[in-house]
Formats: sequence, structure tokens, C-alpha cells
Amino acid sequence: MKDATVPPTELPRSLLVLGGTSEIALATARRLIARRTRTVWLAGRPCPALEKAAGSLRALGADVRTVAFDALDPESHETVLGKVFAEGAIDMVLLAFGVLGDQAHDERDPVRAVRVAGTNYTGAVSAGLVAGRALQGQGHGRLVVLSATAAERARRADFIYGSSKAGLDAFAQGLGDALHGTGVHVMVVRPGFVRTRRTAGLRRPPLATTPEAVATAIELGLRRGSETIWVPGSLRPLMAALRHTPRALFRRLPV
Ligand SMILES: NC(=O)c1ccc[n+]([C@@H]2O[C@H](COP(=O)([O-])OP(=O)(O)OC[C@H]3O[C@@H](n4cnc5c(N)ncnc54)[C@H](OP(=O)(O)O)[C@@H]3O)[C@@H](O)[C@H]2O)c1
Repeated sequence: MKDATVPPTELPRSLLVLGGTSEIALATARRLIARRTRTVWLAGRPCPALEKAAGSLRALGADVRTVAFDALDPESHETVLGKVFAEGAIDMVLLAFGVLGDQAHDERDPVRAVRVAGTNYTGAVSAGLVAGRALQGQGHGRLVVLSATAAERARRADFIYGSSKAGLDAFAQGLGDALHGTGVHVMVVRPGFVRTRRTAGLRRPPLATTPEAVATAIELGLRRGSETIWVPGSLRPLMAALRHTPRALFRRLPV
């Protein structure tokens, strides 16, 4: 009999992506399909990009279906995810939806700021709880949550996004502890700056990475049964140092 406290190290055969057009999620799906994954559900707001993403994964040989999912409509999450799990076991859920927002605009428009928080945090609380319970019901599975290094310390430049990711990160860690011993394992992924369409045009900091590098790190984390990963890994000690930097000094840093 398997020890439910020990994370599995095999890669998933079936994958559910929440945020089905996410560039990081699609790079991860491509990598997992090349390894072992055969069934993929892409959950997202209905749009041509979602169908195009599904087509691109089908071309790699996976059985891919799409399902309408809106992070900002938590009342629907139970029904939407329930339908997916009713079709067959899901070995891994990748919680990938999120918005960066526009800090300068959002500071002046609290309703827009709340959309960032509602998508990244409260939407993930609802979807994470529903997915966690469904995985627990089948007795196994992984929940992989795309947090961000921004979660570790809110910066002047993006504290609305950063605080929503801090909430998400703390929630995911707690959910992982709540599910410990049930056969369900939660892995928190903290990428730094990733070069994608959402970050196109933004100042590219040192240590910027790519969706493919995040996918590689996720595969390694799954194989190792990791609970938290940083991408790139060198951000871990850097963020630890920044987290403990006194406020007066932190405010003056060009981060
Ligand atoms: N790129 C980075 O630098 C970076 C760094 C650290 C962490 N992350 C995190 O990684 C995750 C994926 O980001 P990415 O770079 O792959 O960005 P992306 O390509 O812009 O993906 C974001 C995804 O979130 C979805 N989404 C937004 N609002 C939604 C809603 N209300 N309901 C359902 N889905 C919604 C988008 O769907 P639509 O197509 O419908 O908009 C899209 O699928 C995000 O959580 C992000 O915060 C990104």
C-alpha cells in the first residue's frame, strides 16, 4: 500500500489546466505530453485562443478538451470542475490563471484593483478548494499552483499584484498542509520575471526566465515531490535576503 504522506514522483497521465491559454501552463503541458500525459483539459474563458491552444496540444498526440471556466465566478467552480472530474481521474491540476494588472491605473481605480485580487486570490481560493476536494475524493493527485516571487515581498512597483500573490501563496501552502496524508500533494511554484506576452514591453530584470524553463522546473519538482520551487532556483536565496531587508532600505532598492 502506498504511503499517502509521501509525494508521488511519477508524472501525470491526465492534466487539468485552470487558465488554459497561459503560456507557462501550455509550455508545461507540452513538456508533460512529451513525457507521459495523454489527457488534457484546458479550462478557461471561451475564446479562439483557448481552442487554438487545444489544437496545438492535440497535434502532439494528446486527447484535449476545453471547458468554460471563469476565476471571477466562484459560484460556478463546483459545477465546472465537477463535470471534468466526473469524466475520469485527474492526476494533476495546474492552477495557472492570473492577471498582472496595471499598478498605476489600478491604484487610481479600486474596482480594477479588486479584479486583480479577485482573479489571483479569491478565484484561486475557490478553485483551489474545489480542486483539492475533488482530488481528495479520488484519493490521489497533485495541485500545482503558479504563485510568483512577488508573493514573498510586496514592492512599491506592483504591490496590488504582489499582495494578491502573497495571499494565494499562503493559501496554497495551507491547503497543502490540510491535504497532507490524504494522497493529494500541493506544489507551489514561484517564478520570477517570465518572458511572455503579458510581460512584453516591461523592463526585463536580470534573471528573467522563459515559460519553457518554468516547465522544466515543474517537471523536476514533480519528479522530486517538491513542495515549493523557485524559477530560476537562484531567486530563492535572493528573495530570502530581500524578505529580511529593513523597510527603509528596501524602499530605496531598484527592485
Ligand atoms: N509571466 C510572468 O512573468 C509570471 C511570473 C510569475 C508568475 N506568473 C504567474 O503565472 C501564471 C500564468 O501566467 P502567464 O505568464 O502564463 O500569463 P498568461 O499567458 O497571461 O496567462 C494568464 C492566464 O490567466 C487566465 N485568466 C485571466 N483572468 C481569468 C479569469 N477571470 N478566469 C479564467 N482565466 C483567467 C488567462 O485567460 P484569458 O486568455 O481568458 O485572458 C490566461 O489563460 C499567472 O498566475 C501569473 O501570475 C507569471
